[in-house]
Amino acid sequence: MDDTLGDWKRSHYCGDISAADIGREVCLMGWVQRRRDHGGLIFIDLRDREGISQLALDPDRDPAAHSKAEQVRNEFVLAARGVVSARPEGTVNAKMKTGEVEVEVRELRILNSAQTPPFMIDEFTEVAENIRLKHRYLDLRRAPLQRNLILRHLASKTVRRHLDDQGFIEIETPVLTKSTPEGARDYLVPSRVTPGTFFALPQSPQLFKQLLMVSGFDRYYQIVKCFRDEDLRADRQPEFTQIDCELSFVDRDQIIGIMESMIAEVFKATLNLEISLPMPRLSCAEAMTRFGVDNPDLRFDLELVELSNQVEKSGFKVFADVVAKGGIVKGLNAKGCSGLSRKEIDDLTEFVKIYGAKGLAYVKVQEDGSWQSPIAKFFTAEEIAAIDRALQAAPGDLLLFVADSFRIANESLGRLRGHLGNKLGLIGEGVYRFAWITDFPLLEWDQESRRHVAVHHPFTAPVEEDLALLDSDPGKVRAQAYDLVLNGSEIGGGSIRIHDQQTQKKMFSLLGIDAEEAEEKFGFLLSALEYGAPPHGGIAFGLDRLVMILTGSDSIRDVIAFPKTQKATCLLSGAPDQVDSKQLRELSIRTARPPQ
Ligand code: AMO
Ligand code: AMP
Repeated sequence: MDDTLGDWKRSHYCGDISAADIGREVCLMGWVQRRRDHGGLIFIDLRDREGISQLALDPDRDPAAHSKAEQVRNEFVLAARGVVSARPEGTVNAKMKTGEVEVEVRELRILNSAQTPPFMIDEFTEVAENIRLKHRYLDLRRAPLQRNLILRHLASKTVRRHLDDQGFIEIETPVLTKSTPEGARDYLVPSRVTPGTFFALPQSPQLFKQLLMVSGFDRYYQIVKCFRDEDLRADRQPEFTQIDCELSFVDRDQIIGIMESMIAEVFKATLNLEISLPMPRLSCAEAMTRFGVDNPDLRFDLELVELSNQVEKSGFKVFADVVAKGGIVKGLNAKGCSGLSRKEIDDLTEFVKIYGAKGLAYVKVQEDGSWQSPIAKFFTAEEIAAIDRALQAAPGDLLLFVADSFRIANESLGRLRGHLGNKLGLIGEGVYRFAWITDFPLLEWDQESRRHVAVHHPFTAPVEEDLALLDSDPGKVRAQAYDLVLNGSEIGGGSIRIHDQQTQKKMFSLLGIDAEEAEEKFGFLLSALEYGAPPHGGIAFGLDRLVMILTGSDSIRDVIAFPKTQKATCLLSGAPDQVDSKQLRELSIRTARPPQ
């Protein structure tokens, strides 16, 4: 039979007692980390969310408490009353916050017993993730995850305070709604009341926040769940959280100013780091030219260099042909890496192939500056000198090249740059490099569907001086959009929106959405734009991604209390799951395939 809590009140968290409390009576409550029997004396490490305290039980001093302590196992829930004392010399544990003291227990209550957990609840034991996720409530007892979630709370709290100070109002938008296009598949919820129809869970509150601007709320924000059925990666979850903001009567620079000071405050509050403002800005075109991607990691150099001019007349047909056909050749100089083995270079070649590259040409620059490379023989001395100059080649360097379409050459070499940054150890610990990426194209051509698609979403406004191009050359129109990139990860994105109906209709038609479909899907937005929509714009940050970086986590799952697996399932609850046939009948739903 367990003891009851009775009238005991906790006086301190386990992690909060220190030498300053010596001689004080305390009452602690928590979980047993470990029990050690020292021939008579029993020590118990008692844990709660703030840390661990050592309880000492002496059979001569308190026989009743001591004999109770003999029944205690790991993860039992205890309450202990006693007096804080200094640990005897030689037993001080400098690694623990409470390592100078222990509690001489006078009275012990066992509030609950526990099965032996499937894994040790500590910082050090490596546990397979599926086991951690199945017993997430135990996993969450471990200090690293507790720290992550507490930091996440601090980040959200700082965001709320900052936005509140700036006059933002938190307003909730619906979860049962209509599809919002953000480029992923929707999660659908069948309606019982109107059989055969479905709600979509929001991919973002985009349309509702714009409507709130039409309503005159002027500054809105929400820390909000969004749902996207897309292929999952280390930094993506099917349900994730956005810090979603929208403002009226402002331009891009005002939005950027408010938001970057919010992010700087979050860094100050969580890591006590000063972020220097304003944050750097890069146009999308410059990011592509220098780094091959629009979310560059600026913690290291290793810039890409276009070499089309230097190689177009060369005897290496692969390069010359690609340039002749309108493609490009780009290179990067992996400084001091000429010692990479054949196998390592083959691995890099396989890596770029993931992104569609057909090969990876390489040159090892030797001690005397000459090239050792299977392709050296195709180049004249002048061409070699020109390439060396462009890449600032020096003895010991490894030069890597991809020849392909603009998109593939940039993406494959840009990703290789990120890969090498990690592999070569070019990334310092605790370094944070931000950049706003601006001047994105509004539209991009989708080869598969043979039409334009929105680079951000269909509500993003074109740059005003490019408006005329919407008719003549839509691919050239720039968007009033901006992304915030941190250490190579897109942590936020937003834009100034279209606020007049005509431009919005034109945008839909450029995207191949005819008038009927536009009315059916977005009629409510189009109508609202007729009733005095103010100029407005906004942004949404991925809270999970931001916290991932702040906590140095490798996986987005480590900053979410109850995350989904890569297969979008919840191992803890077993969701998604079958439902009984009565529920399906009520929803007028019949499934075509039995669950696998
Ligand atoms: P966007 O689609 O760029 O913009 O999303 C904003 C930010 O949300 C984060 N994010 C994700 N995080 C985790 N898992 C996911 N599956 C996931 N998808 C996106 C990213 C991203 O930068 N309505 C617009 C914003 C606006 O225009 O105001 C939007 O949703 O960090
Ligand atoms: P090959 O002539 O196909 O044997 O290729 C010679 C070298 O050029 C190999 O190292 C290939 O990986 C590389 N290579 C082939 N195609 C490309 C390409 N499109 N871009 C860069 N390197 C390439």
